[in-house]
Amino acid sequence: MLLPKFGSGEGAGSMAKIHPTALVETTEIGDTTNVWAMVHVMKGVRIGNGCNIGDHAFLETGAVVGNNVTIKNQVLIWEGIIIEDDVFVGPRVTFTNDRYPRSPRMSPASTRYQSKDNWLERTIVRRGCAIGAGAIICPGIELGAFSVVAAGSVVTKNVPPFRLVMGNPARPASDVCVCGQPLRGVWQDAKCEKCGQTGCERQVFYSATISAATAIETSSTINQHEIQTSV
Ligand SMILES: CC(C)(COP(=O)(O)OP(=O)(O)OC[C@H]1O[C@@H](n2cnc3c(N)ncnc32)[C@H](O)[C@@H]1OP(=O)(O)O)[C@@H](O)C(=O)NCCC(=O)NCCS
Ligand SMILES: [Zn+2]
Repeated sequence: MLLPKFGSGEGAGSMAKIHPTALVETTEIGDTTNVWAMVHVMKGVRIGNGCNIGDHAFLETGAVVGNNVTIKNQVLIWEGIIIEDDVFVGPRVTFTNDRYPRSPRMSPASTRYQSKDNWLERTIVRRGCAIGAGAIICPGIELGAFSVVAAGSVVTKNVPPFRLVMGNPARPASDVCVCGQPLRGVWQDAKCEKCGQTGCERQVFYSATISAATAIETSSTINQHEIQTSV
């Protein structure tokens, strides 16, 4: 069942604002989320409240998006990608979920694609992370809470919380504040020159976010068992 269009509250139980040209096949989408032109959200995708999904984004069955997430134009989010609350995904960011891809329709490779255990790798984007424009996130990655991925990076390894990574392959550059500003020193200690947050305040803030983030991960695991492969 399609969700109600802009201005309508009828139908699937959601008041989400869906642009008339968007194709939204899921019913699990938060009331205060906006979905803009030519977006395609497949059946079974779960999206929380307060999100904004820009033109031409694509979300595949099995993707999970938390609350207050910003997804800019032309972002590609596949099965197995889990995005926690407050994440920023810049324009044309590409996620991946298959480390050794082949066409599942090619006979020598088709057996590998009979079970997701053989190919699907999950990626989790922790709360508050920001991913710069055009970044590519390789399969099976964890981007830590409030980490930042620089524009155009190719991320091949996990990123710790509050770390800025850049380049191809992405390498650590510095730690960052909750506000996004690069820090002089480690995030647990350094005072932000921009917003004034201290390391102590940052640690308290970080601890307070952990429980909500875990809840999203758990629900997405359940969701994965319910969905069909789309390869
Ligand atoms: C990574 C980022 C935060 C760094 O900003 P900054 O701290 O002001 O860094 P500077 O511009 O002073 O550059 C510092 C160094 O990093 C390099 N650098 C900056 N951004 C880079 C990037 N995306 N990839 C590779 N190197 C980068 C610079 O060339 C410079 O190198 P140098 O010291 O050898 O001259 C910023 O460049 C960035 O990529 N932001 C994301 C922008 C984005 O995608 N926004 C999305 C909304 S539109
Ligand atoms: Zn700051």
